[in-house]
Amino acid sequence: MSSLPASLGEALARARGRVEQGDARILLREASGATAAQLIAFQERPLAPAAALRYMEWLDRRAKGEPVAHILGEREFYGRSFRVNAATLIPRPETELLVELALHFLGERTRPGSLLDLGTGSGAIAISVALESPATTVTACDFSPSALDVAQANAMALGAPVRFVSGSWFGPLEGERFDCIVSNPPYIAEGDPHLSTGDLRYEPLTALASGRDGLNDIRKIIAAAPRHLNPGAWLLLEHGYNQAGQVSDLLEDAGFNAIQSWRDLAGIERVSGGYL
Ligand SMILES: C[S@@+](CC[C@H](N)C(=O)[O-])C[C@H]1O[C@@H](n2cnc3c(N)ncnc32)[C@H](O)[C@@H]1O
Repeated sequence: MSSLPASLGEALARARGRVEQGDARILLREASGATAAQLIAFQERPLAPAAALRYMEWLDRRAKGEPVAHILGEREFYGRSFRVNAATLIPRPETELLVELALHFLGERTRPGSLLDLGTGSGAIAISVALESPATTVTACDFSPSALDVAQANAMALGAPVRFVSGSWFGPLEGERFDCIVSNPPYIAEGDPHLSTGDLRYEPLTALASGRDGLNDIRKIIAAAPRHLNPGAWLLLEHGYNQAGQVSDLLEDAGFNAIQSWRDLAGIERVSGGYL
């Protein structure tokens, strides 16, 4: 076994050519307790053997492809830390757009509203809305009991009052209506080569893939949503980089109004929605 790195700078040097420097910095910060600034300005700072050992083990796992979020067991979303594991999608920065839009439309209302998050995974969207808009009553659904366990633990750790229900899409919500429904459903086409590359290999296929064109679940949600929306309520759906046109057409066919698509920070049309 090679010797352990003795300083912060040496530790970062060990990652070169194996792991992206950004990922190495995150792992080293977590392993050593050093700040981002210290990793830049004080590279000669000694690294304790226990921290060096932890870091080198994490570096090996990352070099084999395991996502940083799974190694650390958490990922930041909308300014808060969420527990994640193999049962949940790792929350993505682009999904913060869905939170922004839901808060915007709920904020336009004159009275406190209700929100439903379909396919909640780690609970990132539902919990963020519940904490940012305490007057909103938040319900979250998923059909994966293991994902719901993680979401419930996140809600408890972050102090978010979210009602979790278990089942497929609107199945457990018969007769219930909401003032806003959001979902980041599976939307990748089965057989898409991206499913067998990068972090996606470590995430549940049931959170990612949806039929031959990736739109099976979006079709189901749009078809059933009208029975669960109050008058004037918005349905907001995250989708793939090239699906805005198809999702907008589906929304139009289902009778939605003011259909729009919104771009994420990378300039990609990422969320489409309309109201009834
Ligand atoms: C793309 S992930 C989104 C997770 C989380 N909302 C996020 O944005 O990080 C899709 C989620 O939908 C859930 N899901 C897939 N099919 C479902 C179904 N038929 N009914 C309910 N949830 C479903 C998966 O378990 C997964 O948690």
